[in-house]
Amino acid sequence: MSITDYLNPRALSGRTAFVTGGGSGINLGIGEALASLGANVAICGRTQERLDTGRAALEARGAKVFTAIADVRDDAALAAAMAASRAALGPIDFLVCGAAGNFMAPAEAISAKGFRTVVEIDLLGAFNAASAAFEQLKETRGSILFVSGGQSFVPFAFQAHVGAAKAGIDNLMTNLALEWGRYGIRANSIVPGPIAGTEGMKRMGGDAGEAMWRAMTPLGRMGTVAEIGGVAAFLATPLAAYISGARITVDGGQNLTGSSLFNEAIARALPARPG
Ligand code: COA
Repeated sequence: MSITDYLNPRALSGRTAFVTGGGSGINLGIGEALASLGANVAICGRTQERLDTGRAALEARGAKVFTAIADVRDDAALAAAMAASRAALGPIDFLVCGAAGNFMAPAEAISAKGFRTVVEIDLLGAFNAASAAFEQLKETRGSILFVSGGQSFVPFAFQAHVGAAKAGIDNLMTNLALEWGRYGIRANSIVPGPIAGTEGMKRMGGDAGEAMWRAMTPLGRMGTVAEIGGVAAFLATPLAAYISGARITVDGGQNLTGSSLFNEAIARALPARPG
């Protein structure tokens, strides 16, 4: 499946996206989808190597690319990166707050520093990015996409810190949709389900986790980075001009878990699912 089979390859021509954590994984997939529709893409991250890989992938899709080393926890670095991005690619039309950090740990083993680190990367980092991009978004009447997670609304074991951060992100998203709507700025969140081959999946079960994720997902498979990119790209186009304040779940139904105790009990009691 190619995104341009369904959306016009010039749909975002002349537009600029800025993606935090855009050098790899789901965030790079979002950048690639935007680039495939003609957008120019700025990415920031912590390591030059990932930014270089991201640049190559985005340029292969025809985008003009700007990269900057910036940790989203550092508001000054982020503001400088966005000013430089503007000089290179013009004002930001579409901001993707994607940078995230995760590790699995039982709640009693998470130190204050560990909890703070994840909240600082995910939640404070998203706020820093939205703040730094505000003037540019106001000028373009642009939009923001936050990368949230099912942890925002379903408790996942060993993810207390991530759940707090993602719930905060979704709450921030609704506040910005409310406050910045007057400037024509839209704000939405996307909730990726289990997406194959990503850093997040490595951290939440590894390769052995794939069968577990398939079993927990009504559609019976993991998702792809391109499937997240396609929805993100739709949200960047005028097709989504009246969507603001929405949390859009793209997870094959994975977060419709119901009671996990019931799920486990019924799986033991009933024959395996077909296929
Ligand atoms: N279990 C418990 N606590 C942990 C932990 C683990 N597996 N890994 C890290 N921590 C805690 C520790 O308390 C640590 O403090 P310490 O140095 O006193 O032990 C604190 O987190 C900060 O870790 P540190 O490695 O210094 O932070 P960092 O800023 O370099 O990295 C992380 C941040 C920990 C989130 C790291 O995993 C990361 O950089 N992740 C980015 C990529 C990613 O997670 N992608 C997936 C997104 S879904």
